[in-house]
Amino acid sequence: MDTATPFSAELRAATRKEHERAERTGYMEALLGERLDLGAYTRLAEQYYFIYGALEERADALADDPIASRFTEPELRRVPALEQDLAHLIGPDWRERIAPVPATESYVRRIREAGRWSGGFVAHHYTRYLGDVAGGQVIRRLLAQRYGLVDAGAAFYRFDVAGGLPGFRKRYRDSLDTAGWSQVERERVIVETCVAFECNVAVFNALASELDLGSAA
Ligand code: HEM
Repeated sequence: MDTATPFSAELRAATRKEHERAERTGYMEALLGERLDLGAYTRLAEQYYFIYGALEERADALADDPIASRFTEPELRRVPALEQDLAHLIGPDWRERIAPVPATESYVRRIREAGRWSGGFVAHHYTRYLGDVAGGQVIRRLLAQRYGLVDAGAAFYRFDVAGGLPGFRKRYRDSLDTAGWSQVERERVIVETCVAFECNVAVFNALASELDLGSAA
């Protein structure tokens, strides 16, 4: 793509295939096909606790970074919502009862490493948070319909951001477009975003094999 293309459009187009792969994993297909029980969904929420812990730790570390800080609004924080959800789904002793799968541990390491650079941080941030406010909302509806989870247990999918989700998405794309990255830096962001998608696929596949769903990635 030429340099006149807004980066948000370039990033979206460059990761379309990765997105399709993530959507088509055995775990995601089973979740959306309503073939998972609540325990199987809870395993994903557990992994998210570790993943968002790392993302939000990097967000804090980069709080004074002029680029990274444009993407991190306080209302986006998911760790408090995940704490509530896991207490509801597992019980008060949830902290002792959750564990990351090895793919989650690798993902967390990657977030910490790539997230030392603001562009690497944004790559990982985009993959999760922009996905949560888009396709994640499909899962929010599913949790309500299939498991009766509206607030407690599904807080992760509720974003009280200024301007609602459309306003947030627009702000986010504007921040991507005006981050001021050179073409080389944009390419590095794209490559790291593909890695972030792959990290998600690896986690879904690990959960699928644990649940004996097979891994159709
Ligand atoms: C499994 C079910 C999924 C469904 C149904 C789904 C659906 C969607 C839809 C409809 C959009 C477009 C929203 C729009 O046009 O603004 C979207 C965007 C997005 N999704 Fe997904 N998605 C899924 C899984 C994932 C996963 C697993 C990830 C990453 C871990 C992800 C990351 C993203 C990102 C980053 C965007 C924003 C793209 C952009 O506008 O730049 N999605 N998703």
